[in-house]
Amino acid sequence: MVNSRFTNLIDLNDMSSEWWLNVVKRASDICDDPAKYAKVCDGKIMATLFYEPSTRTQMSFQTAMLRLGGTIIGFDNPATSSVAKGENLKDTTKIVSSYADIMVMRHPSEGAAKAAALTADCPIINAGDGSHLHPTQTLTDMLTLYREKGRLENLTIGLCGDLKNGRTVHSMCKALSSFKGIKFVFISTKELGMPQYIKDILMAKNCQFSEDPSLEDAIGNLDMLYMTRVQKERFASEEEYLALKDAYILDKRKLNKAKSDCIVLHPLPRVDEITMDVDDDPRAMFFKQAKYGMYVRMALIMTILENPNESRPLLTGSTYPSVACGNPNCITHKEGYLPKYFRGLGDMLECEYCDERRLGN
Ligand code: NCD
Repeated sequence: MVNSRFTNLIDLNDMSSEWWLNVVKRASDICDDPAKYAKVCDGKIMATLFYEPSTRTQMSFQTAMLRLGGTIIGFDNPATSSVAKGENLKDTTKIVSSYADIMVMRHPSEGAAKAAALTADCPIINAGDGSHLHPTQTLTDMLTLYREKGRLENLTIGLCGDLKNGRTVHSMCKALSSFKGIKFVFISTKELGMPQYIKDILMAKNCQFSEDPSLEDAIGNLDMLYMTRVQKERFASEEEYLALKDAYILDKRKLNKAKSDCIVLHPLPRVDEITMDVDDDPRAMFFKQAKYGMYVRMALIMTILENPNESRPLLTGSTYPSVACGNPNCITHKEGYLPKYFRGLGDMLECEYCDERRLGN
């Protein structure tokens, strides 16, 4: 077992659902009276290390900290940092975390935030690790549901688009399946389907889900439709991306088949999957959702900095020094010094960084 000395947010499921709800309720309070919180992080420094492009996540974290009275350091282009000289993830994150009180990190490899947390000197927040997870987007989505639907229970939620590579939908399924009466409808092509490990988590929690390749057929039953972008950067070739990129497009005509109180979310950026004639529909919530992201990150930063030293388990399984993770994009392949940890699952081993499964040996 390897523990961290800090209150990290790597995966929402490392925390309790009460903890998430406290963050969401606090964020809702901030929405109503942001001025009350203007000084709560006075003198604190947040580092944002973005190894991958971002607009909303990065800027909403930065403005969140500035609105709380704190300050920010960081990079949004590793090419202008020592990463370009070949510095490894451990050294960069170890040093930056010794300068800051809290560190937010986005990285193209699955498991990178957990890898950084093994040696960091302050709490780490995962702002997206490859195709794996995006816990702060899920907190944003929960706040949107809480404010716009008034509940996080008894909802039929359609997830549409690239469910294979989209980290936002993976985090959402893992978290929302903890609430009563949540039903998911996975709307995707076979190639872009939800990974089996997420479906297994839902089954273990008795959370209902169904699959429907047709957005038009599914839309009428939904309380919330979550559209996602086909994740171009995760495809092996341009041809494969082009063949799938326009598989699902929400336009006004399709939206007319939805319930009058079905809200439409999208983590953004959108490419072509929602036409602009949808933007002015009162059910289109994606711009509001992006603003909620700032408030939820204010609540999250405050919550972690109030209690930054809650020790948490990071690696709970066993080391298998000679076993390689089957996912070529797992951080353990890029950063060879990382201890290889797997959880045993019958005759399978599950990588503790990226959750990829392989046959044990
Ligand atoms: C998402 C992401 O980075 O995973 N964007 C975001 O954080 N708002 C979704 C995406 O890039 O498609």
